[in-house]
Amino acid sequence: MKLIQSLLMLLLAACALGAQAKYNGEDRGKPVMPSENNAKMQAECSGCHMAYPAGLLPAASWKKLMAGLDKHFGTDASLSPQDTKEITDYLVKYASNRWTSSAAPLRITEGEWFKNKHDSSEINPSIWKRESVKSPGNCSACHQAAERGDFNEDRIRIPQ
Ligand code: HEC
Ligand code: HEC
Repeated sequence: MKLIQSLLMLLLAACALGAQAKYNGEDRGKPVMPSENNAKMQAECSGCHMAYPAGLLPAASWKKLMAGLDKHFGTDASLSPQDTKEITDYLVKYASNRWTSSAAPLRITEGEWFKNKHDSSEINPSIWKRESVKSPGNCSACHQAAERGDFNEDRIRIPQ
């Protein structure tokens, strides 16, 4: 009995470790799309690219990104203090619930889960350079329902 118990404990510990080690703990949330919408985020964060679902980054990333909107990947995306706070609070509330790493990348596309799902076995490196794709952050180039937070493989079409 004791032996079985110890074995079970070991198995449980191994499972926990396995879950932790997935993508080095840099995993997107589940679900990726929050149950609640935020009109301000939709309006202010969709002008230059799609409004990314909050679950694609951990809370620490959103805080860092929202604190530096005046120097946002080479552009100025700054907002009023009130709007910045409202959007930050929303993104932080619905940030990835499966991210266990202390890493807080500014880019979704820098996360280990992203690199794993989009490695060269899935996507030929030359595809990223296509004019129709331009940037890995251009999710909707390939994921036809990305705006709804739907990244199911049935809804992928690689553009020419
Ligand atoms: C003035 C244009 C502009 C606005 C407005 C804007 N962004 Fe961006 N954003 C960019 C550019 C340019 C990039 C870099 C694009 C690239 O390299 O693919 C970017 C990249 C990003 C990325 C990283 C995507 C990746 O590569 O993984 C995130 C996350 C992001 N923006 C979030 C936001 C949020 C949240 C808001 C609203 C508060 C916002 N953006 C508003 C221009 C903008
Ligand atoms: C060049 C096309 C392309 C772009 C751009 C792209 N993806 Fe993907 N994505 C794919 C392909 C292909 C797969 C692999 C599907 C599979 O596993 O069969 C994938 C897989 C995924 C998956 C896993 C789906 C699943 O069911 O396991 C997620 C989530 C995802 N992508 C999110 C994103 C996000 C978020 C962005 C933008 C920041 C993005 N993708 C940009 C082509 C792309």
